[in-house]
Amino acid sequence: MQRVIQVGTGGRGEVYRDSAAYGFPGVVELVGLCDTNAGRIGQYQQVLREKGLEVPGFAPDRFEAMIREQKANWVVVTSRDNTHDDYVIRALNAGCDVICEKPMTTDTVKCQAILAAVKKTGRQVRVTFNMRYSPVRMQVKELLQSGVIGKILSVEFRWMLNTSHGADYFRRWHRNKVNSGGLMVHKATHHFDCVNWWINSVPSTVYATGTRQFYTPQQAERYGLTRRGSRCHGCPESARCPFYLDMAAYGHMKKMYLDQESHDGYFRDQCVFSPEIDIEDTMNLAVEYRGGVRMSYSLNAFAAWEGYEIAFNGTKGRLEHGAREGAGSVFGDGSTPGEVKGLSVRVWPLFGKPYAVVPADSTGGHGGGDERLMADLFRPDPPPDPLGLRADYRAGSWSILTGIAANISMRERRVVEVDSLVSGLALPDYPPAPAWDEPIPLPEKKPAS
Ligand SMILES: NC(=O)c1ccc[n+]([C@@H]2O[C@H](COP(=O)([O-])OP(=O)(O)OC[C@H]3O[C@@H](n4cnc5c(N)ncnc54)[C@H](O)[C@@H]3O)[C@@H](O)[C@H]2O)c1
Repeated sequence: MQRVIQVGTGGRGEVYRDSAAYGFPGVVELVGLCDTNAGRIGQYQQVLREKGLEVPGFAPDRFEAMIREQKANWVVVTSRDNTHDDYVIRALNAGCDVICEKPMTTDTVKCQAILAAVKKTGRQVRVTFNMRYSPVRMQVKELLQSGVIGKILSVEFRWMLNTSHGADYFRRWHRNKVNSGGLMVHKATHHFDCVNWWINSVPSTVYATGTRQFYTPQQAERYGLTRRGSRCHGCPESARCPFYLDMAAYGHMKKMYLDQESHDGYFRDQCVFSPEIDIEDTMNLAVEYRGGVRMSYSLNAFAAWEGYEIAFNGTKGRLEHGAREGAGSVFGDGSTPGEVKGLSVRVWPLFGKPYAVVPADSTGGHGGGDERLMADLFRPDPPPDPLGLRADYRAGSWSILTGIAANISMRERRVVEVDSLVSGLALPDYPPAPAWDEPIPLPEKKPAS
């Protein structure tokens, strides 16, 4: 029996709470809940109580004591990004294996400290990249592995967050780099991880530019929102502002955040136009990978639609994949997070006819990734993993290094060598690459008539 302590009792943690508490009976047991906000722990306990379970809650200073008393052997970390390192390292030192939400951490000092703790303790850190587990992304991996476009030479990738989901990052703790590493780390860790995995490589250099030009006081002025408050709750402009979030209107959000403000003073509905925000909403990168692949990548957080488009150019052709996400939602409003729609996969062979591939069914939370990820984490007999979906601290580190390098590059206006950022980091385990460099037979030319 795996005995699990969970740190971080917010929105994302719920899927882990439910899986650990009653998703895998007889295999996994949830034996403790930790958070700086006692009210949010209480909310989790209430949900569990309704299912007949009593799970003790505790403050962060009792973390090691609770691991001992509860004889825990796993710790699940679903707290704010910049607190992950603290719990990962303390859990490892206390003799536990760790399951950590992305991003593994937010800067190079913390990343290096996690690497040292793994080395010292020899224990496991799984980093949970649910994006990989979405069937359509596995399908893209399979196609690339099959060699359908030959050796991959370059990648074009653009990600759009809309003014519903995207704006939410500018209301919450994510709005400050000290908490989240900015969207380059917090959000794009998913994207950079997938690219590393899709192309079986890791980044070597990054050049980035970035700015915040939409979620600004100037944009509020363009809308004529002159009487803004510092948060939505009680804002004099609430009737006019298109970004007004009424937490009280969503029962779940109200219970989880609005009703718990007295415990820590955290407001989940801060004004998206406030000058205190220091993350970018517009980012462009040029990334070079080991082995020579080049990628151009962009992330826009105020787009009119939400989704992404990616293209891989290879020695034998081009593979395009895209997804439109729903009209957009905010985390905790009752909608399915990260639902993907409008999927497309298309192969363009060089000198041949393009064809569409029927995209794999990817319904469910985060493109169907959540359910599959939970089964892979908690099932005692996880299925074979031919695509190398399971990620540990190495993939966790490589995925954040692109974004951390981008942050440095944006600040210092220079190309950043990724190898210089941390030491002693091995390559992730990727499935063997196909024989991408085999000779390519040319198509027969029709005789001139
Ligand atoms: N993989 C995904 O699809 C996905 C989606 C959303 C969030 N996430 C990740 O999940 C994590 C939680 O995000 P969320 O959306 O649930 O945020 P949230 O704000 O709802 O929850 C974060 C929780 O961490 C707690 N916390 C803050 N500082 C703490 C500390 N020092 N010690 C213990 N607890 C602390 C907060 O009180 C809060 O309960 C983040 O790392 C985020 O990046 C992943």
